[in-house]
Order: sequence, then structure tokens, then C-alpha cells
Amino acid sequence: MRNSTRSEVDPFIVMDVMEAARKAEEAGRRIIHMEVGQPSTGAPEEAQQALVRALENDALGYTVALGLPALRERIARMYGEWYNVDLDPGRVVVTSGSSGAFLLAFTALFDSGDRVGIGAPGYPSYRQILHALGLTPVDIETAAENRLQPVPSDLSGLDLAGLMVASPANPTGTMLNRDAMAALIGATQEAGAAFISDEIYHGIEYEAKAVTALELTNDAYVINSFSKYFSMTGWRVGWMVVPEDHVRVVERLAQNMFICAPHASQVAALAAMDCEEELQANLAVYARNRQLMLEGLPKAGFSKIAPPDGAFYVYADVSELTQDSRAFAAEILEKAGVAVTPGLDFDPVRGATTLRFSYARSTADIEEGLSRLRSFMENR
Ligand SMILES: Cc1ncc(COP(=O)(O)O)c(C=O)c1O
Repeated sequence: MRNSTRSEVDPFIVMDVMEAARKAEEAGRRIIHMEVGQPSTGAPEEAQQALVRALENDALGYTVALGLPALRERIARMYGEWYNVDLDPGRVVVTSGSSGAFLLAFTALFDSGDRVGIGAPGYPSYRQILHALGLTPVDIETAAENRLQPVPSDLSGLDLAGLMVASPANPTGTMLNRDAMAALIGATQEAGAAFISDEIYHGIEYEAKAVTALELTNDAYVINSFSKYFSMTGWRVGWMVVPEDHVRVVERLAQNMFICAPHASQVAALAAMDCEEELQANLAVYARNRQLMLEGLPKAGFSKIAPPDGAFYVYADVSELTQDSRAFAAEILEKAGVAVTPGLDFDPVRGATTLRFSYARSTADIEEGLSRLRSFMENR
């Protein structure tokens, strides 16, 4: 049968690494996972208990498309607690993870063929989802001196209908500070384009607090998720904040595309928002791991790295070691038993000379992984 051309999206290369790692584990090897972008912890205990209680007396049918009112209110309250932003709960849309929010945002904002700017390196699915929706992803090659984030001058002449940013970003962990975010919002709005801010790694930040676009403007789409800080990847629940006059547009799309985000996950997510102690304990593990990575990677020979402001990744320039990050990642897996992600997933052009190391797992795993990387590099 025929296929559409817009369905021809690239696979995640990291999935190939994960499959190779799985095969090695099946053959009895112990693999250290520095490729995965998810916490090894589960949903907070109280979130799980809240769902157990709900299962006893609730059929957990559809919710309204915009999400459980109590969850929308709690998310709005969080903006007051975290950023001192007074947010109307009516602007919060609960989604099936941030991935569901991308579909809603791109569909609500753009027409077929519209050009949408994304930073390279960046999260690969932005490009693939835009392509699948018949939109045109425009890679913005970011500069090391801008900490691999886009800056206003990068936008000139691109004729964009929208700009997508992430802070903290995947794969670099770098953040846009208040001035940098304000400058990008200004330049985007001046160009008549829509500003979309992926804030999925908020809460996982180390030196300074991440800035939400909502501190600077109401005229933006802000996307977030329960997957990372709240440690609920598989529950498929996230949210989006949209301008007041976009709520009805997004609601109609959500009704038709998803009906609602999973009800059970919304119940658990609501409870997760009051589990600060447990979530802060997870954060302390990432902070310790980050320190170990910043000390251990250079000792192993991966010295071209920048300290990440947030998230749980280190993006390394390995151009002095290889011109083929895919083959290098395969060699590291084979000889060191450490799974890492080739940069090609994040930057189709320059990613042949970069690797992403994730430190989302346990500290014991990070220590073991670093020690293996060191002996691998010594014997290379
Ligand atoms: C920057 C970024 N945005 C979005 C996502 C997708 O997350 P979700 O589980 O909320 O769909 C990821 C997942 O790794 C990510 O790194």
C-alpha cells in the first residue's frame, strides 16, 4: 500500500544503541546505561498511592479534553510557587506528555509548509514531528560561544512562522538566562512568528533557576511534562500553557486528536506535585552524578565538555577522537560495556563528532561507567 512522504521520518539512532545494549545484556554482559534520557526512579510513592485509592472508587473514564480541573489548578499554582507568576488555570492544557503537546502546538499554530526554527543540536523529535505534520523544520546551527542555544541574529532571513527553544536543553543541558530568553522572544515576535518554549527539564537545574517564558510574556506556548523532574516518563502526562485566546482552538484539537490525557496518569500527576521531598532527593542524586561526570569525563579523555546548567546530560565534542560518532559509540559499547548516544540524533550535520552522556541513573552506575570509560580510553 502507498505511504505518505511526510511519514518518512528518521529513526532515533539511540534506539539502535539501546537494542545493541539489550542484546549484549541478553548474552550475559552487564551494560552501564549512559544513553537513556530518563530517570531510573519511578513515580513518587504518594502519586502511586493516590492512584491505588482512585482505582477503588472511580471508573477512570474520559476526563474533559483540557484535563482534570484540580490538576490544571495545581499546575497554575506551581507557576506562583516556582516563578512568582500569577497564572490563570484556564490557560493550562493537560496533554499526553510533552510529545502530545508538540502535536497540539504545531497544529494549532502553523499551516502546511510553514517554516519552524529549531536549534541544532536539539531534541530530534521536534524535526520529525514537524516533518510528519507537513511543516518545514529549519535547523539553526547554534554556536559554542552561545552555549549551543539560538540567538536573535541567527533568525534573520529565515522567514520563520515559529521558533522552538528548550531551556535547559537536550542534549547540552544549557539554559537561556532571562536576558537571552527575552531577546529571543522579542526577535521572534518582531518577525511575526510564534514562540514555543520546551521547559520539560525545569526543576532539574543546578546553579541557577530556569526562567519560564511566562515570566516575560503571555504571548507564547510553554510546554512541560511530568516525565523528568516528576520521574513519570511512562505515564504519558504533561501540560501546555497557551495564550488565553488560543485555549478554545487547542481544546477543539485536543478533543478530536486525544479526547484527553490518560485519566489514571492525571490522578497520579496531581499527587506527584506535592512530593517535593522525594523529588528533591532524586535531584540530589543528579547533582552528585553531574559532579562525578564533570570530574570523571576529562580524566577519561573526554575533555571538551561544558558544565550543564540543568537536565541530566553532558554533550561532548569528540572531534579529536573520531569523525564517526556512531561507530565510536558502537566501539564504546562493545569494548567498555557503556551505552552512549551518538550526536547525530541531535545534530545531523555536526553530530558525527559529538556524543551525549546521560547521568540520570544511580550514582553507583555513574561511578562504574566512568571507571570503564577511563580504562577503555587508556587502552585505545
Ligand atoms: C527536550 C525534550 N522535550 C520533550 C521530550 C519528550 O518528553 P515526554 O515524555 O514529555 O513526551 C524529551 C524526552 O526526552 C526531551 O528531551
